[in-house]
Amino acid sequence: MRFSLLTAVAALASSATAIPRVKLFKAFPTAGGVNYTWSVTNWEAGLTRSGGHYGFNVTGEAKTTGNQVPAFSAYCSGYEQPQDYTPCTLYGGRPGQEVAAKLLPANTTTDPGAHLAVSFEFPDVNEVNMWWNYTAYTTKPYNQVSAPPMNFTVIPSEIYGVA
Ligand SMILES: *[C@@H]1O[C@H](CO)[C@@H](O)[C@H](O)[C@H]1NC(C)=O
Ligand SMILES: *[C@@H]1O[C@H](CO)[C@@H](O)[C@H](O)[C@H]1NC(C)=O
Ligand SMILES: *[C@@H]1O[C@H](CO)[C@@H](O)[C@H](O)[C@H]1NC(C)=O
Ligand SMILES: *[C@@H]1O[C@H](CO)[C@@H](O)[C@H](O)[C@H]1NC(C)=O
Ligand SMILES: *[C@@H]1O[C@H](CO)[C@@H](O)[C@H](O)[C@H]1NC(C)=O
Repeated sequence: MRFSLLTAVAALASSATAIPRVKLFKAFPTAGGVNYTWSVTNWEAGLTRSGGHYGFNVTGEAKTTGNQVPAFSAYCSGYEQPQDYTPCTLYGGRPGQEVAAKLLPANTTTDPGAHLAVSFEFPDVNEVNMWWNYTAYTTKPYNQVSAPPMNFTVIPSEIYGVA
């Protein structure tokens, strides 16, 4: 599985070198395997007239079976923005690792709650010039004024291979 995916990325990269990011595959609902989850702690999100804002810690244990994913831990905070991810602060990250988050725009009347996307990008454990980008999506309450900080788990449901 892993070998053929890397081969596919290499083939795509050489035939389309102008595109730096190769979307390798997207799988729902459990791209990393059913038991691969990230832990979000101290989630606080608020909604003002100018939009949503959020703060939380996110950690992932090392995944050592199948496609390997290193452990990571980060603090994320930011404001709702139409497109861009906001970089999170990594605790003890390795070179090339990045965690970033954003709130996706949503109609707060028909689709309430904060629509979070959080992603972890890291260099492949074995291949040089090869990265993986895992993203988890979830919708959680704007709890800042109504409830204490929340903890929950998220399931990365999207993987990009980047070569
Ligand atoms: C997921 O975890 C459960 C409980 O530990 C275990 O029974 C199951 O076999 C695991 N599934 C996979 C695909 O690893
Ligand atoms: C959430 O997790 C943090 C860190 O583990 C812990 O300090 C806190 O008490 C937890 N909060 C709840 C509501 O469980
Ligand atoms: C996030 O984790 C760091 C490092 O463990 C800790 O110092 C910080 O207080 C945490 N922040 C929140 C909001 O949980
Ligand atoms: C993951 O990939 C998306 C889409 O290319 C990108 O916007 C995001 O910044 C990447 N995440 C990280 C942490 O680099
Ligand atoms: C949200 O959805 C409602 C019901 O469809 C609609 O009336 C309203 O205009 C929408 N608001 C925005 C900001 O799109």
